[in-house]
Amino acid sequence: MDNRGSRIPGFYKLPLRERRRVVCDRAGVHPEVLERAVAGGGLDALMADKVVENVLGTYGMPFGIALNVRINGKDRLVPMVVEEPSVVAAASNAARMVRAGGGFTAEVPESLMIGQVQLTGIRSSEQATAELERHKGELLSLAGRAVPGLLGRGGGPRDIEVRDLGHGMVVLHVLVDCKDAMGANLVNAIAEAVGPVAARIAHATLGLRILSNLCDRRRVHVSCRVHARDLAFGRAPSQPGGSVEALEPHEIADGIVAASRFAELDPYRAATHNKGIMNGVDAVVIATGNDFRAVEAGAHAYAARTGEYRPLAVWRRDGEDLVGELTMPLSLGTVGGTLRVHPVAQLALTILGTNNADELSMTAASLGLASNLAALRALATEGIQRGHMSLHARSVAVAAGAVGDEVESVAATIAARGSILVAEAARVLLELRTAAHEPSPGQPST
Ligand code: MEV
Repeated sequence: MDNRGSRIPGFYKLPLRERRRVVCDRAGVHPEVLERAVAGGGLDALMADKVVENVLGTYGMPFGIALNVRINGKDRLVPMVVEEPSVVAAASNAARMVRAGGGFTAEVPESLMIGQVQLTGIRSSEQATAELERHKGELLSLAGRAVPGLLGRGGGPRDIEVRDLGHGMVVLHVLVDCKDAMGANLVNAIAEAVGPVAARIAHATLGLRILSNLCDRRRVHVSCRVHARDLAFGRAPSQPGGSVEALEPHEIADGIVAASRFAELDPYRAATHNKGIMNGVDAVVIATGNDFRAVEAGAHAYAARTGEYRPLAVWRRDGEDLVGELTMPLSLGTVGGTLRVHPVAQLALTILGTNNADELSMTAASLGLASNLAALRALATEGIQRGHMSLHARSVAVAAGAVGDEVESVAATIAARGSILVAEAARVLLELRTAAHEPSPGQPST
């Protein structure tokens, strides 16, 4: 991206064509490349027919860009694919507050996937474990031979661990550095190659050979610092059922900390808190053609790893600042899979400006933390409905039949009336169209 960075004031007000031009300009993408990639949602039916089975067509989703994102000192325009109104705007808005505090700091301390080999019918798990440990070197070279291409790219199996699950069951973990691949196929190939030999060594019956989606050896950690003054906004009900009053910035920061504590103490709240995080994470995962089911499975298993379901991100006060920390497993790839065939996923990586899987994970997690901040800030102040519903108003207007410029007019009117319903939108649309066909005063009627 050029040095004008990820901050583009007024971007949302630009017409669609102009927005595309600005992003192409900043990301160094030829406008025709973008136009061609997004035409028809990227994937045509004939191509889709080669990707999955029983295809009838394709299914479009909005492809947007989160602004203001700075990660480890580098600006990024972040592609997001999501159907929920307000997610892109909220993440961009929170990223602007984080940016004022220096941006996101992210790291992926190690990047290892886990392949599991299940071994059953074991009489002595101590003996089986000892034998498997003794043959580690042999098993690792067997694993490496199963993925010559990965070895050529500098990746490959790194270690073997043995876990005794009791009940005569032992599981062998092969830890694999998949480089820029998500790694499911590589890890499964390794597990299948190693399985029969491991079973022989352990005098066991061979069971499943498959990756684990709880990829807790491929975790990403993101933190950010927001000055309380940058959280300033808003009004919140001061009394139950009562009036609203402006909140001081430090009260908003304390409200966010209290919301974090709520999620730390209550799994019912933690699930929703984490859903808000996944709003940001999944949107980047989908935009870049990655497997969001794998990411979701890993995230929630990690959240529950202590036996109690916990929030993936927490917030604390540090003097005048609010500090957020998020840790989660993420297995993302910038090569292979959907990326081979999907032009919009390829375009997304170009706009993002990376081919590095760890950088992609750091970006997705940063968007998760931004989405979480936006949600908690809204919840701790004016509530989620106001901002959410005013953006939702546009899709309600479309559902009522509004087209072109009518969409914004109808949405603005129903949002101002506080009645964001299709029936209300239909009424407003009728009024608008009737007014447009009425002669203006002084104009002769025809
Ligand atoms: C809605 O998509 C996400 C939220 O429910 C997240 C949260 O409650 O933290 C607003």
